[in-house]
Formats: sequence, C-alpha cells, structure tokens
Amino acid sequence: MDIHADIPLKNFTTFKLGGPAKAFAEIHSAQDVVQAYQYAKANQLPFFVLGGGSNVIAHDEGYTGLIMHMRIAGFEVVADDSFSTTIKIGAGEAWDSVVQRAIQMRLAGIEAMSGIPGTAGAAPVQNVGAYGQEIADTLQSVDAYDTQTETFVTLTSEQCGFSYRNSIFRSSDMGRYIIISISLRLSKSAPQPPFYDSLQKYFDDHKITIYTLEIVRNAVLDIRTSKLPDPKILPNAGSFFKNAIVEDWQLTDIRAQYPNLPLFDMGDGHFKVPTGWLIEQAGFKGKLLHGIRVNDKNSLVLINEAATGYGDLAAARDEIIGAVRDTFRIQIEQEPLEIS
Ligand code: EPU
Repeated sequence: MDIHADIPLKNFTTFKLGGPAKAFAEIHSAQDVVQAYQYAKANQLPFFVLGGGSNVIAHDEGYTGLIMHMRIAGFEVVADDSFSTTIKIGAGEAWDSVVQRAIQMRLAGIEAMSGIPGTAGAAPVQNVGAYGQEIADTLQSVDAYDTQTETFVTLTSEQCGFSYRNSIFRSSDMGRYIIISISLRLSKSAPQPPFYDSLQKYFDDHKITIYTLEIVRNAVLDIRTSKLPDPKILPNAGSFFKNAIVEDWQLTDIRAQYPNLPLFDMGDGHFKVPTGWLIEQAGFKGKLLHGIRVNDKNSLVLINEAATGYGDLAAARDEIIGAVRDTFRIQIEQEPLEIS
C-alpha cells in the first residue's frame, strides 16, 4: 500500500471543493486498513475514510491527516433460506451496482434506493434512504476495524444505532470504526404496495399496476433524473440538508398559514417536515447565492455552480439556514459530513 502526498480533495468529492490531503492511501483490503491506520498512528495524523465523496464537503485548506480511499471489493452470498439471502458486500463497491446485482438475483429490499451515488461502506454511516426504504431495514451487520481496540469486530444492526440519516458512525462513535464490509439480508418476495407517495404517483401516471424489482428500479431512476442533478455534470452532494424533525406544537402557526404544508407523521409526536419545502417557501428555489445554486426542482439540493471556495458554500448555507429559522422558527441541519 502506497502513501501519496498532497492529493487534491476536490477531485474526490462530488461537490468539487477542497484543497490537498497531506497523506492519501488507496485501501483494497482489510490488511491495508490496518497498515494505513498504523501509519497514521505512528505519524500522529488523524484519518478520514472516503468512499465515493458524494456526501462529504472538503475545506480549501485540505486535510492535514491521512485520507483512506476505500476501494475494498466483494459481493458474496453468506446465508440463504427460503425467504431471504444474505450478501456480504465490500465497503468500496459502488452502491448502485450492488442494487443492480441484487435485482438480477431477484432479491428485494434495496430497489427503491436505486441511483444513489457513493459506496456500500458509506451507506450505513448516514443510514441512506430513498423512496420508502433505508439501509437500516435490510442491514444485518457491519464488519469493521475498531481503532479503539485495534481488532476487527462485527456490529449488529442494533449496535449501529440507526435513526433518520444517522448512526453511531457519524455521532457517538465518529472516527472509531473503519467499515470494511456490510451484510444485507434481502427478501425473495416481490415488491408490495403501499409505495412511497411520489413512487405511487409515478405508477399511477404511467398506468403501472404490476410491480417487479426492475419496474420499481426504473421508476426510481426516472424520478431521480427528473428531480436531482447528476453530480457528474452539476457538482452537488445530494440533499444538502436533512429534513426537519419537529414536535406538533412547533407547527401550530405554520399550519394555520400554510394549510397544504406537506408533513410526514412519525407516529411518536414528531413530524418530518420537508426542508426542501421550507427552503422553497423562504424564497430560495432556483436562486444563486455566492456561486451556489439552489436546485430548481428540489431546493434541498445545492449545486456548486461557481463557488470560489468553502467560504462561498458556508455563506450560502448560513443564509438559507437563517432565513428558514426567521420564517418558520425551525432550525435545519446540514446533511453532508465535513472532512476536518
Ligand atoms: N418539496 C417541496 N419543495 C422542494 C422539495 C420538496 O415542496 O423544493 C416537497 C415535495 O413536494 C414533497 C416533499 O417535499 O411533498 C418531499 O420531497 P421528496 O419526496 O422529493 O423528498 P425529500 O424529502 O426532499 C428525501 C431524501 C432524498 C430522497 C428523497 C426520496 C433526505 C435528506 N433526503 O428528500 O435523499 O431521494 O427523500 O425518498 O432525507 C439524499 O439524501 O441525498 C437524497 C437525495
């Protein structure tokens, strides 16, 4: 395993910002993980594990530590019964090719997460989800290197502490585990309604009444291309904000003013309010601020159109957060992690 110096992070993040990483290593195996970690430890460098770079933001001054660019491959059936098949997937596999292969094997549970950029190992970190599915629903376990004990461990889904777009990997245990593979337990049954609202609407509009895995995948890919900018063409990091989770009382005034407020009842006294809607109502949809474009189809996505650096992004982000707070008294949060 080679250690490279001064590698520009803007080339490894889909938001296309970021200065050089002091040290950079391509990780192809569990042994590489141990070697890279020992190198960082011996040189007193912090480390950061980078997957597809589609949900992270790098800073202009780069990173003063070691970037471990996760490339571990693997796709292996580890258990099988009459209802399900469990597949162990290397952390460096491209997420969408995993979805494609699962569908080819007639396995259900991740088809609605088609077209999500990034790697398999990054998926549990922010508990990725789309169109009614999230990785927490099918994830059986995660194999990781525990830098605290310097041993390989297997964490159950429960131990990952999943909640909406969150896990221990980006909160309580941030920086502790290096994920090397994930195991997903996928179902042998066909997709069943009820589907996520916008997916059902797509089926209705296209007069689709038979639901196969391929049909769900193609519908999701079609909806995504119509709403989300392709990061290869327009640099972005997917949803730049999390949806807001609020309590009932916080909505009293907003509901009175906006009877059509879209809401998702979480069933525990909390409601998920689409932040894209809040940003749109605050007047930012399609606007350009400090070189950052608020996407005109879903305001949750910010596009790096002409930012001169991280400062422009931070200024645009803070303006949006401030306006949503002033208009709705709701504090919204950034979704992508920052490399620091
Ligand atoms: N809406 C607006 N204006 C907007 C955006 C959304 O009014 O500018 C409304 C929509 O009309 C709809 C509701 O808000 O009533 C929800 O919108 P949508 O279904 O498009 O999804 P989202 O809540 O904006 C989340 C995920 C996406 C995921 C979609 C589909 C988060 C942070 N984002 O977005 O994930 O693809 O649902 O399931 O949870 C990502 O994380 O990078 C991502 C793209």
